[in-house]
Amino acid sequence: MDEVIGIFATPLLRAPATLPPGLVDALVAHFSAEAIESNSSSAHLSHTRMLHPSQSPLYGQVAALVTPKVVDFGGLLFGERLGWSIKEMWVNVLDNGGKQAMHNHANSFVSGVVYLTPTAEGAETVFMKSPGGTDFAFRNDHKGTTPGPYSADKWVSPSPDPGDLMLFPSYLMHAVPPNPGGRRISLAFNAIPTRLDSWGYAVSFAG
Ligand SMILES: [Fe+2]
Repeated sequence: MDEVIGIFATPLLRAPATLPPGLVDALVAHFSAEAIESNSSSAHLSHTRMLHPSQSPLYGQVAALVTPKVVDFGGLLFGERLGWSIKEMWVNVLDNGGKQAMHNHANSFVSGVVYLTPTAEGAETVFMKSPGGTDFAFRNDHKGTTPGPYSADKWVSPSPDPGDLMLFPSYLMHAVPPNPGGRRISLAFNAIPTRLDSWGYAVSFAG
Protein backbone atom coordinates (compact mmCIF):
# COMPACT_ATOMS: atom_id res chain seq x y z
CA MET A 1 0.00 0.00 0.00
CA ASP A 2 1.26 3.47 -0.84
CA GLU A 3 2.07 5.67 2.11
CA VAL A 4 2.61 9.43 2.38
CA ILE A 5 4.62 10.53 5.39
CA GLY A 6 4.62 14.17 6.51
CA ILE A 7 8.26 14.51 7.44
CA PHE A 8 9.58 17.48 9.44
CA ALA A 9 6.10 18.68 10.37
CA THR A 10 5.51 21.96 12.21
CA PRO A 11 3.42 21.72 15.40
CA LEU A 12 0.76 24.22 16.41
CA LEU A 13 -1.24 23.62 19.58
CA ARG A 14 -4.82 24.76 20.13
CA ALA A 15 -6.13 24.50 23.67
CA PRO A 16 -9.78 25.54 23.95
CA ALA A 17 -10.99 27.32 27.09
CA THR A 18 -7.53 27.59 28.67
CA LEU A 19 -8.55 30.77 30.50
CA PRO A 20 -11.83 30.77 32.45
CA PRO A 21 -14.43 33.42 31.55
CA GLY A 22 -13.85 35.40 34.76
CA LEU A 23 -10.15 35.86 34.00
CA VAL A 24 -10.88 36.72 30.36
CA ASP A 25 -13.34 39.43 31.48
CA ALA A 26 -10.87 40.82 34.02
CA LEU A 27 -8.10 41.00 31.38
CA VAL A 28 -10.36 42.82 28.93
CA ALA A 29 -11.54 45.27 31.58
CA HIS A 30 -8.04 45.98 32.86
CA PHE A 31 -5.95 46.07 29.69
CA SER A 32 -8.17 47.46 26.92
CA ALA A 33 -7.71 50.95 28.39
CA GLU A 34 -3.94 50.45 28.55
CA ALA A 35 -3.45 49.62 24.86
CA ILE A 36 -1.98 52.98 23.95
CA GLU A 37 1.14 51.94 22.00
CA SER A 38 0.44 52.45 18.29
CA ASN A 39 1.41 49.95 15.58
CA SER A 40 3.07 51.05 12.36
CA SER A 41 1.11 48.56 10.23
CA SER A 42 -2.34 49.85 11.14
CA ALA A 43 -3.93 52.89 12.75
CA HIS A 44 -6.62 50.57 14.13
CA LEU A 45 -4.21 48.35 16.03
CA SER A 46 -2.72 49.19 19.40
CA HIS A 47 -0.84 47.32 22.11
CA THR A 48 -0.19 47.56 25.79
CA ARG A 49 3.42 47.78 26.89
CA MET A 50 5.12 44.44 27.46
CA LEU A 51 5.28 43.15 31.00
CA HIS A 52 6.89 40.18 32.68
CA PRO A 53 4.10 38.06 34.26
CA SER A 54 5.50 38.96 37.70
CA GLN A 55 4.66 42.63 37.03
CA SER A 56 0.91 42.04 36.78
CA PRO A 57 -1.26 39.80 38.98
CA LEU A 58 -3.56 39.10 36.01
CA TYR A 59 -0.64 38.12 33.79
CA GLY A 60 0.63 35.93 36.63
CA GLN A 61 -2.68 34.04 36.59
CA VAL A 62 -2.43 33.63 32.82
CA ALA A 63 1.16 32.37 33.07
CA ALA A 64 0.14 29.76 35.66
CA LEU A 65 -2.49 28.35 33.29
CA VAL A 66 -0.47 28.61 30.10
CA THR A 67 3.00 27.45 31.19
CA PRO A 68 2.05 23.73 31.51
CA LYS A 69 0.83 23.86 27.90
CA VAL A 70 4.11 25.47 26.85
CA VAL A 71 5.99 22.63 28.56
CA ASP A 72 3.92 20.08 26.59
CA PHE A 73 4.43 21.97 23.36
CA GLY A 74 8.15 22.43 24.00
CA GLY A 75 8.40 18.65 24.30
CA LEU A 76 7.34 18.42 20.66
CA LEU A 77 9.88 21.02 19.55
CA PHE A 78 12.86 19.79 21.57
CA GLY A 79 12.07 16.16 22.44
CA GLU A 80 12.23 16.81 26.16
CA ARG A 81 10.03 18.35 28.85
CA LEU A 82 12.23 21.34 29.62
CA GLY A 83 11.77 24.14 32.13
CA TRP A 84 10.02 27.07 30.44
CA SER A 85 9.31 30.63 31.39
CA ILE A 86 7.12 33.29 29.88
CA LYS A 87 9.28 36.35 29.53
CA GLU A 88 6.82 38.95 28.24
CA MET A 89 3.09 39.39 27.75
CA TRP A 90 1.04 42.10 26.10
CA VAL A 91 -2.48 42.77 24.87
CA ASN A 92 -3.44 43.69 21.29
CA VAL A 93 -6.56 45.71 20.53
CA LEU A 94 -7.65 45.47 16.89
CA ASP A 95 -10.58 47.67 15.94
CA ASN A 96 -12.74 47.34 12.84
CA GLY A 97 -10.54 47.66 9.74
CA GLY A 98 -7.33 47.09 11.69
CA LYS A 99 -4.80 44.45 10.69
CA GLN A 100 -1.52 42.99 11.85
CA ALA A 101 1.21 42.71 9.18
CA MET A 102 3.09 39.47 8.64
CA HIS A 103 5.77 39.01 11.29
CA ASN A 104 7.42 36.53 13.61
CA HIS A 105 8.78 36.90 17.13
CA ALA A 106 12.52 37.38 17.59
CA ASN A 107 14.50 36.17 20.61
CA SER A 108 11.84 33.64 21.55
CA PHE A 109 11.15 29.93 21.01
CA VAL A 110 7.45 29.45 21.71
CA SER A 111 4.88 32.19 21.19
CA GLY A 112 1.24 32.11 22.03
CA VAL A 113 -2.01 33.99 21.74
CA VAL A 114 -5.09 33.83 23.91
CA TYR A 115 -8.23 35.28 22.37
CA LEU A 116 -10.15 37.51 24.78
CA THR A 117 -13.12 38.50 22.59
CA PRO A 118 -15.00 36.76 19.77
CA THR A 119 -13.14 36.94 16.44
CA ALA A 120 -15.10 38.05 13.38
CA GLU A 121 -15.03 35.66 10.44
CA GLY A 122 -12.10 36.78 8.30
CA ALA A 123 -10.00 38.08 11.20
CA GLU A 124 -8.62 34.71 12.29
CA THR A 125 -4.84 34.51 12.71
CA VAL A 126 -3.19 33.35 9.47
CA PHE A 127 0.11 31.45 9.42
CA MET A 128 2.43 31.48 6.42
CA LYS A 129 5.43 29.60 5.20
CA SER A 130 8.49 31.80 5.39
CA PRO A 131 8.57 33.92 2.23
CA GLY A 132 12.39 33.48 2.24
CA GLY A 133 14.56 33.32 -0.83
CA THR A 134 16.10 36.00 -3.01
CA ASP A 135 15.83 34.06 -6.24
CA PHE A 136 13.12 33.51 -8.87
CA ALA A 137 10.30 31.31 -7.63
CA PHE A 138 7.96 28.88 -9.40
CA ARG A 139 4.44 28.30 -8.18
CA ASN A 140 1.27 26.58 -9.34
CA ASP A 141 -1.73 28.27 -7.75
CA HIS A 142 -4.90 29.10 -9.62
CA LYS A 143 -8.62 28.29 -9.57
CA GLY A 144 -7.96 24.68 -10.53
CA THR A 145 -5.51 23.86 -7.76
CA THR A 146 -6.43 22.35 -4.41
CA PRO A 147 -3.98 23.47 -1.73
CA GLY A 148 -3.01 20.72 0.69
CA PRO A 149 -0.60 20.35 3.58
CA TYR A 150 2.36 20.08 1.20
CA SER A 151 1.40 22.72 -1.36
CA ALA A 152 -0.35 25.48 0.61
CA ASP A 153 1.70 28.48 1.66
CA LYS A 154 -0.75 29.73 4.26
CA TRP A 155 -3.12 28.31 6.84
CA VAL A 156 -6.05 30.11 8.41
CA SER A 157 -6.52 29.06 12.01
CA PRO A 158 -9.99 27.90 13.11
CA SER A 159 -12.29 30.55 14.52
CA PRO A 160 -11.45 30.85 18.23
CA ASP A 161 -13.68 31.49 21.24
CA PRO A 162 -12.70 33.78 24.11
CA GLY A 163 -10.33 31.93 26.44
CA ASP A 164 -8.85 29.74 23.69
CA LEU A 165 -5.07 29.43 23.50
CA MET A 166 -2.88 28.81 20.48
CA LEU A 167 0.86 28.02 20.71
CA PHE A 168 3.30 28.07 17.81
CA PRO A 169 7.05 28.11 17.20
CA SER A 170 8.21 31.72 17.40
CA TYR A 171 9.86 31.59 13.97
CA LEU A 172 6.52 30.98 12.22
CA MET A 173 5.31 33.94 10.16
CA HIS A 174 1.79 35.08 11.00
CA ALA A 175 -0.60 37.96 10.39
CA VAL A 176 -4.15 39.11 10.98
CA PRO A 177 -6.17 40.23 7.92
CA PRO A 178 -8.25 43.43 8.11
CA ASN A 179 -10.82 42.94 10.84
CA PRO A 180 -14.31 43.09 9.29
CA GLY A 181 -16.02 42.95 12.69
CA GLY A 182 -15.98 44.55 16.10
CA ARG A 183 -13.09 45.13 18.49
CA ARG A 184 -10.89 42.05 18.66
CA ILE A 185 -8.71 41.76 21.75
CA SER A 186 -5.99 39.16 22.20
CA LEU A 187 -3.20 38.52 24.66
CA ALA A 188 0.17 37.46 23.29
CA PHE A 189 3.32 36.16 24.93
CA ASN A 190 6.79 34.76 24.30
CA ALA A 191 8.39 31.85 26.13
CA ILE A 192 11.92 30.48 26.42
CA PRO A 193 13.33 27.23 27.80
CA THR A 194 15.80 27.52 30.65
CA ARG A 195 18.49 25.53 28.84
CA LEU A 196 19.19 23.74 25.58
CA ASP A 197 21.89 21.10 25.38
CA SER A 198 23.25 19.63 22.19
CA TRP A 199 25.57 16.80 23.30
CA GLY A 200 27.32 19.11 25.72
CA TYR A 201 27.12 22.32 23.72
CA ALA A 202 24.68 24.03 26.06
CA VAL A 203 23.11 27.45 26.22
CA SER A 204 21.07 28.90 29.08
CA PHE A 205 18.46 31.62 28.79
CA ALA A 206 17.21 34.15 31.30
CA GLY A 207 13.96 35.96 30.56
FE1 LIG B 1 2.64 37.93 16.61
